[in-house]
Amino acid sequence: MADLALPDRPDAPENAENGVWLHCIECGESHPPFDEIIYTCPDCGGLLEVRYDRYPTFDEFEGTGVWRYNAALPFEEGVTLPEGNTPLHRMPRLREEIGVRNLRIKHEGMNPTGSFKDRGMTVGVRVAETLDVDRLACASTGNTSAALSAYGARAGIQTLVLLPAGKVAAGKIAQASLHDARILEVDGNFDACLDIVQELADRGEVYLLNSLNPFRLEGQKTIGLEILESFYEDHGRFPDRIVLPVGNAGNTAALYKCFREMVAGGDLAPGDVPKLTGVQAEGAAPMVEAIEEGLEDTRRWEDVETIATAIRIGNPVNAPKALPGIRETGGTAVAVSDSEITDAQREIAAEGVGVEPASAASIAGLKKLRESGVVGSGEDVVCLTTGHLLKDPEAAAAAGNDPESVGNSTAAVLRLLAGDDGGVFGRLRSLLR
Ligand code: F0G
Repeated sequence: MADLALPDRPDAPENAENGVWLHCIECGESHPPFDEIIYTCPDCGGLLEVRYDRYPTFDEFEGTGVWRYNAALPFEEGVTLPEGNTPLHRMPRLREEIGVRNLRIKHEGMNPTGSFKDRGMTVGVRVAETLDVDRLACASTGNTSAALSAYGARAGIQTLVLLPAGKVAAGKIAQASLHDARILEVDGNFDACLDIVQELADRGEVYLLNSLNPFRLEGQKTIGLEILESFYEDHGRFPDRIVLPVGNAGNTAALYKCFREMVAGGDLAPGDVPKLTGVQAEGAAPMVEAIEEGLEDTRRWEDVETIATAIRIGNPVNAPKALPGIRETGGTAVAVSDSEITDAQREIAAEGVGVEPASAASIAGLKKLRESGVVGSGEDVVCLTTGHLLKDPEAAAAAGNDPESVGNSTAAVLRLLAGDDGGVFGRLRSLLR
């Protein structure tokens, strides 16, 4: 069973490099970080976690963006575009409607390639440089491929992406395409793509930058650090709960690691750790199933479907790191329907914030948990919105208003606005024009 407890006083093993090493969460073995390329424990196959000989504290952080937090990262700086420092929006109308003490939206869609994946890639591609690899790769529902393509291009390293054919939103493919990635569309879902790319990585063909790569999650920890700092600055306390969409459960694992390290460093009281609350689409909810049934790992769902294609995932590889995060922080997991996701996407947009469907799942989940009383009215809640509206223009257009055609004159526009389309003859005239 996974052991995620951090020692009070971390002692660097002999194979550590500059106080950094890889720790297996299953067997406890330590491995050198940059000697040979490994993604899981060579001894037992367990997930690896990056460990340090010291823990970060808030007073060490300076500057802005992901690298503000280099005291919590394996390098001083990375391959940067730059990323992080995303807004923590207030949502007064939505807060009122849902009925919580505070509601903030951490909009990760405001990163350089439009999703939180940039935070992982600024670190992950830096590791790839250190390892001197010549080809990067990932399986992706879209956003990881967009981010990897951009950061690979920035670093001048070739990128290969494997996508589930027909199930990736247009904006994401456009990004990978323009950033010059080689794009392979696989006749299978994301989980099948990940199986293949893992085998390519094991054969040494590519350097894997999915969230199975523990360095990715280091960068993604900074979401948690930014939330803790900004929320504290505005409200004088830390949030009670963070609600986030879950696919591979990388962010859930990263946020939990952020909290564990800040607690171990003494700057976050154990009682102040926000409750990690995961939201999945009903058609792809193995994490919700595992939480509800008290499982140690998820059962793989072979058939997954949802409008939120970013989280159309049946085999969340980070579940052994993320399930304890949800349980230990007193959080939970909930599934929402596609129509609840679309409603939430509209409601967030109605307050000026544009997000893709997967992101809206966080608000949809919060609404559901508030209605069932799991979330109390006195709670301070931060919802994570993980990707930008423009990632999935088709979903946005389908959820929003339809364009209306109008004749080429002010009079025609005025008539339309007045609710008068000119009658049969008017319609005929505008058709003939
Ligand atoms: N939201 C968005 C917009 C995503 O793109 C993803 C994952 C998630 C949430 C889920 O995050 O995996 O950390 O639980 N997208 C991956 C991709 C799988 O390939 O872009 P997670």
